[in-house]
Amino acid sequence: MDYKQTVTAALAQALDGQLTADEISAKLEWPKTSDKGDMAFPTFTLAKVLHRAPQQIAQDLADKLDTTDFEKVEVVGPYLNFFFDKGAYSEATLDTVLTAGASYGKNEDGNGGNVPIDMSSPNIAKPMSMGHLRSTVIGNSIAEILTKNGYHPIKDNHLGDWGTQFGKLITAYKLWGNEADVKADPINKLVEYYVRFHKEDVDKPELDDVAREWFKKLEDGDEEAHRLWKWFREASLQEFNDVYEELGVKFDTYNGEAFYNDKLEEVVQILKDKHLLVESQGAQVVDLSKYDLNPALILKSDGASLYITRDIATALYRDRTYAPAKNLYVVGSEQTYYFKQLKAVLKEMGVKSADNLQHVPFGLITVDGKKLSTRSGRIILLAKVLEESVKLAGEQINEKNPELANKQEVAKQVGVGAIVFGDLKNERTNNIDFVLADQLKFEGETGPYVQYSHARAESILRKASNVDVQAAGNHITDPEAWDTIKALADFPAMVKMACKELEPSVIAKYAIRLAKTFNKYYAHSKILTEDAELPARLALVKAVSTVLKESLRLLGVQAPDEM
Ligand code: ARG
Repeated sequence: MDYKQTVTAALAQALDGQLTADEISAKLEWPKTSDKGDMAFPTFTLAKVLHRAPQQIAQDLADKLDTTDFEKVEVVGPYLNFFFDKGAYSEATLDTVLTAGASYGKNEDGNGGNVPIDMSSPNIAKPMSMGHLRSTVIGNSIAEILTKNGYHPIKDNHLGDWGTQFGKLITAYKLWGNEADVKADPINKLVEYYVRFHKEDVDKPELDDVAREWFKKLEDGDEEAHRLWKWFREASLQEFNDVYEELGVKFDTYNGEAFYNDKLEEVVQILKDKHLLVESQGAQVVDLSKYDLNPALILKSDGASLYITRDIATALYRDRTYAPAKNLYVVGSEQTYYFKQLKAVLKEMGVKSADNLQHVPFGLITVDGKKLSTRSGRIILLAKVLEESVKLAGEQINEKNPELANKQEVAKQVGVGAIVFGDLKNERTNNIDFVLADQLKFEGETGPYVQYSHARAESILRKASNVDVQAAGNHITDPEAWDTIKALADFPAMVKMACKELEPSVIAKYAIRLAKTFNKYYAHSKILTEDAELPARLALVKAVSTVLKESLRLLGVQAPDEM
């Protein structure tokens, strides 16, 4: 039952054509607390049109209104407050949730449209940073949310596997590296060489020339350069895959920057044909002054390509391969200006999907107050953070539930879930400082808290497994259950909002709200009492468990049945 529609219909009738259904619907508000009703209609904006005082309008409407579908309708100042019929509403809501199960809240708004999501995209020979973690988990959740809204996402890991830094890396490896060391501990060793390159290059600028030569060789297909590059790439990817596996994130493609190497010539040709390339101090640039942006550097004076050159080829490729309905880049806010330039160049080139290219930015993440940087050599390895989190989760479980059967598995689900949830509950663009111990608390706004609430619901259901719970006929009149029922009914709207805003935090905050209302209900009501409403209460518990689990799934977080 859609109460917004019910309220709208009742008001439309009472207003007798003075406002359209859409206009009424847009004005409806949700009161913060249930004592002010379940939906409210403010009348002040009508005062001008109807030439009457808002209070008077509210009173007149209340007199005319057909109130059969409501428990009551109250006039409070310029507001009409609607109180829903709790029994009928709970019955309709629980029926909808239990009938749909995990597909509750699914819609087909996306019409199966393709949505490439540029996500994760770490750089070869560098550790995956917490920033890449954000891109990975935000992108993954957005993909789940898009699917729930009827889109077809394509998770595309645009690996940073090309660029002048590989000239530096090869130079460093040839000077100080050896094969056995790299084989034993690839990323750490490669980073060590890279850091050393940047230290030594302060006094020996000629190192930069050597590096430039190596990169040129790499671009020209030199055998040795290519072999080393390929080895560094594969070894790094293996380490990244360990992290992805831990997070439970899968990709549809790993076409990194290098994949587009043989597609750059066409880009340059199109730019030339459209007279967009101009020479500037030997380099080739696209002028973007009409967008109020700095020129985009496409080719260096030695002919070497750049990050943006490869991104243009990537966008062109995605345009042709997917005919995208949306075209998303989940990349940190520090690249906002860059994506404006990219979009502007693509527009100038006439690439179709330039208009729906959307940079989905996110803020900076620090861990226990520390920023991450590869160059200075101060590295917080993501794998280490995950490992630590699983360890802490294991300790908590040992304390709270020493008898638990599959402790190791649950510790992993809780430890990893805590990090993912701790990230996603924040609006994307916020900067966050990650204090691991806080995210692991079983109380408060954390992943473990939501997981624990789900496990609690499952435990209640296990205790009452002898009771036959049906989807239909679950009439609940207990006012303590009301906020939980309303939260359940809100889920489909949250799924839509999260999609519209590309904002997983909408789902995370919703999950916290549902968990809180449910725990409050649990604390106040004896759910397992043997009386006539027992099956209905269990239906409510089942619905809560279903929607909590589905919310966590949309975030990429597991929901153990016991913890
Ligand atoms: N590898 C880049 C980095 O770590 C991110 C790539 C983002 N995606 C893109 N198409 N530019 O900063």
